Amino acid sequence: MCGIVGYIGTSKAVPVIFDLLKRLEYRGYDSAGIATIGSSIQTFKTEGSVDDLVSITPDLAGCIGIGHTRWATHGVPSSENAHPHCDNAGNVAVVHNGIIENYIELKDELIGSGHEFVSETDTEVLPHLISEYYNGGLESSVRNALSKVQGSYALAVISTDDPDKIVVARKDSPLVLGLGDSEFFVASDASGILKYTKNVIFMNNGEIGVISREGVEITTMDGARVENKVETLEWTAEAAEKSGYDHFMQKEIFEQPISIRETFSGRISSEGVNLEVPVPNARRIVIIACGTSYHAGLFGRYAIEHFARIPVEVEIASEFRYTDPILDCGDLVIAITQSGETADTLAAIREAGSKDSHKLGITNVLGSSITRECQCILTRAGPEIGVAATKSFTSQLAVLLLSAVRLGRLRGALSAADENDFIYELKQMSANIRRVLNCAPSIRECALLFADAEQFLFMGRGANYPIALEGALKLKEISYIPAEGFPAGELKHGPLALIYDGVPVIAIATEGMVYDKMLGNIKEVKARGAIVIGIASESDTRIAKYVDYVLRIPDTDPWIAPVLASVVLQLFAYYIAYHKRCEIDKPRNLAKSVTVE
Ligand code: F6R
Repeated sequence: MCGIVGYIGTSKAVPVIFDLLKRLEYRGYDSAGIATIGSSIQTFKTEGSVDDLVSITPDLAGCIGIGHTRWATHGVPSSENAHPHCDNAGNVAVVHNGIIENYIELKDELIGSGHEFVSETDTEVLPHLISEYYNGGLESSVRNALSKVQGSYALAVISTDDPDKIVVARKDSPLVLGLGDSEFFVASDASGILKYTKNVIFMNNGEIGVISREGVEITTMDGARVENKVETLEWTAEAAEKSGYDHFMQKEIFEQPISIRETFSGRISSEGVNLEVPVPNARRIVIIACGTSYHAGLFGRYAIEHFARIPVEVEIASEFRYTDPILDCGDLVIAITQSGETADTLAAIREAGSKDSHKLGITNVLGSSITRECQCILTRAGPEIGVAATKSFTSQLAVLLLSAVRLGRLRGALSAADENDFIYELKQMSANIRRVLNCAPSIRECALLFADAEQFLFMGRGANYPIALEGALKLKEISYIPAEGFPAGELKHGPLALIYDGVPVIAIATEGMVYDKMLGNIKEVKARGAIVIGIASESDTRIAKYVDYVLRIPDTDPWIAPVLASVVLQLFAYYIAYHKRCEIDKPRNLAKSVTVE
């Protein structure tokens, strides 16, 4: 949700800021803006993309600047509402990601003191507050201003009164500082600055940083000095490039043999699964997540209950946090969040902490907010830029399978022999995903037959049910075709009414997941005119008699087949969206990290 960036160094700031903004555009893309300091603050803003901003910005000489790419919350996308926002004198410019909750009261007070506002945003109060409380130094003025503010923020501020500094601050929105050679970078996430440096500082909540060409100084809101903890990013700069693919999503789908290998690296061997899963004796596990990560959580529930025999509940984070959940110290709460920044998931894990439950995070992003809240397992899928989650999802599934097996062994629910057999299959997962990807042309051919369909239905049973939900989500978010996933056993309880002549139904019918019942469900929809596309194993000789089209996945363990089926569904959605010329990497109204409620 919004990307903020900054640069201070010896090069011209504008090209660097444009490059950083383009890399963060997946966080928001309805308007963009830039400010640099020359003889005064020069600001350029526009509705639209970073490319639109580039086209209206002249060549500017300043070597310090800030930029913003917006996902609108307060106020429509427009150049007035785009950041940076300035005070009336034009001495202070601010970019902000987050929400200032008490902005209406602050705005009224500031208007009372003579400030004039030009936008509908919450952010605009910040430069006015900074100028109102200006006391001779930018850092202390920002500190004063922030003491009045309630809400969340990652912000970067520049001022003509202190022209060789960027002041940054963080509360509940991500902020990373990149340390180069006499040049420093600010970004909402590390993938933005990978090209420039791998040495980063992940700022913590309640910290203020002052960045000059000499270095970075971080203090708490009370002014206490904080030791800079410099971390080295493991991701390569190439991992955050499109590398010849048409879309990041396509690249990320095709990277899954590698991302899965990374997820497993050092975690599976002839000795068993090596993964630190806390509290094996937990009485209950509660998984919390949103969107695709929630679907991974549903899959995790089936896997953990099967392998470890621990009762598991799965909750949507935004619901969980407001339902006064019943939790205690016997519970292990697992938060799954690819970005590690989803506001609702973070709030839910805090809620779990306040009830003394044990906490575990599963995330793809080192240094993200969730890693500051609790012990985390990293999914190691590498940077995911496409807004639609793909490789991060399959890596979440893989981590959940590992956790289920590990817990099963620790609790004595799974024998060493069964663990070994399963590990053998896990080791084939990467190669099997590659075989699915090799079938991309036939998946494309099948998908294009249905590119003009008005709606799709997806169904599965057992651990394939969450995969059906995820298949439907992928299709609707990137192609805008209404799609619904449901457990096939529920058909007769309502969804059957959606079936009419010619409606496409995707049936995930991998063996082991109540296969025979699934065939029965396929018959039910076929009898009412549906065209059924079955996803089935290579050696399945029965399925072809039941469905109109079959998309095959390699034979594997029933718990791994859902992972392979997800890859088929990702490709299916991708090819339809491509055919419809949709903005695949930046779907309408969506952003990669949902850092606001
Ligand atoms: C869909 C998608 C979203 C995210 C959801 C949670 O493709 O990516 O549904 O899964 O916004 O995000 P994270 O996992 O970052 O908490």
